[in-house]
Formats: sequence, C-alpha cells, structure tokens
Amino acid sequence: PVKTTPHTLRQSKGGDPLVAITAYDAMMAHYADQAGVDIILVGDSVGNTILGHDGTVPVTLDTMVHHAAAVMRAKPAALVAADVPFGEAHFDFRRVLMSCQRLMQEAGVDAVKIEGGRKLAPKIARLVEAGVPVWGHIGLMPQQVKQLGRYKKYGVTDAETAALIADAQALEAAGCFALLLEMVKPAAAKAVTAAVTIPVIGIGAGADCDGQILVITDVLGLTPGYVPGFVQKFADAGSVFTRGLTDYTAAVRSRNFPR
Ligand code: KIV
Ligand code: NA
Repeated sequence: PVKTTPHTLRQSKGGDPLVAITAYDAMMAHYADQAGVDIILVGDSVGNTILGHDGTVPVTLDTMVHHAAAVMRAKPAALVAADVPFGEAHFDFRRVLMSCQRLMQEAGVDAVKIEGGRKLAPKIARLVEAGVPVWGHIGLMPQQVKQLGRYKKYGVTDAETAALIADAQALEAAGCFALLLEMVKPAAAKAVTAAVTIPVIGIGAGADCDGQILVITDVLGLTPGYVPGFVQKFADAGSVFTRGLTDYTAAVRSRNFPR
C-alpha cells in the first residue's frame, strides 16, 4: 500500500470520503492499517479509552510520545497524526515546536493535531514553516472541558457557524493540511467543509464532511461505559473478549486447559 501523506490527503478533497480512526498501540494500528484507513490518529482520547481517566486533560506529552511510538512500530501506510496534549499548544512557540519535535522525532509520527481556532493560527503558521504538518481541530475541543463545564454541540446559531468558518479559513491560511470538526450541527459542518479547500474530517458532525473519524474502541464495541449517540458500533469485540476470557477461566478451573 502507498503511504498516505498530507499532500495526498489535500488532493483527495472532493473524492471518496476519507476514513480516519484512532489507535493507541502497535496492535490496534496493525488492524486499522490492514483495514486500509487513510488516517490513524493517536488521540489524547487514550486518556479515557485506555488509561482509565475521565477525559483527555490528564494526558501528558510523555504519554502521547509513548503511545505514538508504539503506533509507529506497526509501520502504518496510513498517515499517522498525534494529538498535541492539553496546554502544550498555548506555551510560547519554542516550547510548542519542541513538543512537536518529540512527537515527530522520538515517536516518528507524520503529523500533529492541535485543538484551537484562529487565535492559534499565527503559531500554527510558524510550525508549518518549520516543517510540522498540522491537522487543525475546531468545534468541540475536549481539552477545554474543564473551562466549558460540559461537552456540547457547535454550529447551532448563525453566529457560531460564522465563527467556525472564520476559524477554518484562518487555519487553512496558516497551512493546516486538514481540519477536524467535532460535534457540529450537520448544516454548519457542511458550510465549513465548503468554505475551505483542505479536507474536513468530522466526528458527530453529519454526513457532509470530506471524511469521518471515530474512536476505535467505540467502533469495535470495546468501550465499557458511555458511548456518544453519533457512534455506530461496527463490531462487538467486547462480547468476543468476554466470551474468550470466561471460557479460559472455566477451562483452567475445570482442568480442561492445559490438556
Ligand atoms: O482524541 C481523539 O480521539 C480525538 C477525536 C476527535 C477523534 O481527537
Ligand atoms: Na483528541
């Protein structure tokens, strides 16, 4: 399979919908890449999906580097992006570049994703100038949850939609190769997607984006707790795990394993 790059992604706008999914280690990246996804995101959702936190805020740069390096060891053909975790993108440029350096040099990822709108555009333009491919992330930004007090939908009012379009266009002008749009009303997501020439990947943002992303544990039915309403479960791996482990437990206790 041919390696996906920021360049090939940009050129694919208007073609078949792009497919993105999260992965947090070499095993998950292996299965995602075998399925032929275009983009693997080492999301800071590793905090809630894998590490037992109740959100992404506790996830540190060290944690992101650790998981991103594991994903890269699977040598995916998909483009691999890693989240710049809570707080990092708001330090001075030197420190932000150093964070991106760790993700690109130590972990070896192809790109980074940064939550933030037009206020971060000047800094993102400097990162792009330094050679960091940046995937912008607007709409709901889970790293803001302590400040927002809740997770909510965006693009509900005309003013909110106009703000999203302004953010999207500023990030495009800054050199982002793609955008992620989270929890945005479908009509607003459609307007944002039409307002930029870079691909817009949606989550909880309707069918009219250039592509979709979901969290792998949600897709596979491995999430033990709450799953957002926009998710579709494409497998019930949780039941497969439970059956396998229950059978193993019973087999050892009944002396049927080993035999
Ligand atoms: O960390 C994550 O899983 C994300 C989602 C929006 C895909 O950023
Ligand atoms: Na994230």
